[in-house]
Amino acid sequence: MRPPPWKIKVVEPIVLRDRERRREALAEAGYNTFLLRSDDVFVDLLTDSGTSALSQEQRAAMELGDEAYAGSRSYYRLERAVHDVYGWRHLIPTHQGRGAEHLLSRVLVEPGQLVPSNLYFTTSREHVVLAGGTWVDVAVPEASVTDALAPFKGNIDLAALERVLMAAGPEGVAFVRQEACLNMAGGQPFSLENLRAVRALTRAHGVPLILDATRISENAVFVKDREPGYEHWPLQRVIREIADQVDGAVFSSKKDHFVPIGGFVAVNDDELAERLRELVVVYEGFPHYGGIAGHDMEALAQGIRESADEAMVRHEIEQAGHLGRLLQEAGVPIVLPVGAHAVFVDAKRFLPHVAQEDFPAQALAAALYLEGGVRSMERGIVSGQHGDEAYDGLELVRLTIPRRVYTQEHLEFVADTVISVFRQRDRVPGLRMVYEPLYLRFFQARFEPLAPLLAARSEHVAHTARDRGATT
Ligand code: F0G
Repeated sequence: MRPPPWKIKVVEPIVLRDRERRREALAEAGYNTFLLRSDDVFVDLLTDSGTSALSQEQRAAMELGDEAYAGSRSYYRLERAVHDVYGWRHLIPTHQGRGAEHLLSRVLVEPGQLVPSNLYFTTSREHVVLAGGTWVDVAVPEASVTDALAPFKGNIDLAALERVLMAAGPEGVAFVRQEACLNMAGGQPFSLENLRAVRALTRAHGVPLILDATRISENAVFVKDREPGYEHWPLQRVIREIADQVDGAVFSSKKDHFVPIGGFVAVNDDELAERLRELVVVYEGFPHYGGIAGHDMEALAQGIRESADEAMVRHEIEQAGHLGRLLQEAGVPIVLPVGAHAVFVDAKRFLPHVAQEDFPAQALAAALYLEGGVRSMERGIVSGQHGDEAYDGLELVRLTIPRRVYTQEHLEFVADTVISVFRQRDRVPGLRMVYEPLYLRFFQARFEPLAPLLAARSEHVAHTARDRGATT
């Protein structure tokens, strides 16, 4: 792996708590890694959201934050950065990605309308459903096959999309959503060819095309590497080419833009922008700050420019690739090819003895924490099942890499932890959910293990014997 294109100027101490404390912390957290205190975590791979390191240029820019309620200089600098890098005409800042999704769903979705998308993202789908819409999955089938070595598993199935558009008609579809580096499939990119074809279909049917551009930079790198014709294009040009295909985009800037908070919705249509600006004052703030501070807008404007720096973006992808290779060499089942921002472990194949109703990915995430203080995130039935709908889809644990934060040694420690759990995987039991929140349950649900987790051998043997009805 190439050395990172940055060096470290400020450090944050981290501590590996002893195993006894980790076991206690896990029980206190209801076996949900979201509910752990970060003080109890050693390597935190919960998410790449808001967890990146700021650059010296971002920190310096923050000093220039203009905190005026209206007409802030920082807003205009942010608008210029969005315009320069992506080209969209109207910018409406929000506190983070879901703020943008909320505004867009409120404006575009009429009750009963459909939103076809390549798979789902948790908050994206929730806002569409809360606005009265219905989410329709039109991802290519290989998106849900963890070992299918396809280069563009983030593509939309064009035939499936066309069927939905024909059946529902333009009034029946609020918008089509395509997500860059499809998070729930493992950070998988789409090709520009596919995006162009989706553009042509949506145009023919008179339906808006909205990009979830949260991880557009990594998607653009994959286009350069995997799609013929773009290898010599500067990254900035590929990003712009992607942005040019869509009517608008939502962004969680907490990922590619390296900021702890912030997001936006950007559109080209004047009337749509007006509707969004009418609503932003109700839910986020004045259109010149949208729920973030002037100094946040400065960090964001600078971060947007850094997100088109190919060396920066490539390093993130290479870190994920390196961790993926270490796991693959040890036989750990992971999503292939390794995607943009994370390595996704296939919990169904890792824990074949745990039925999906017993939450294998949640159980595995708990085990990784217990084994090495490594925090990961469930991306399986807990995140994916909506309401009473049946769910038999992907069952993954995401090891997500914050940008510019961890070194190769940290990643190697993480690999050792995962491999160690893999070698004793028969000692990872399923879980029972004991508290289920009303919305986005994965954030705050609580669980109990069906048997002691990674129990000492003697305890484990006793338990297994009990399972078999034997007396010990
Ligand atoms: N869209 C995508 C593709 C995302 O990955 C996220 C957040 C959002 C929208 C919502 O943005 O968090 O700023 O409100 N993903 C985070 C994650 C939470 O861990 O993957 P937000």
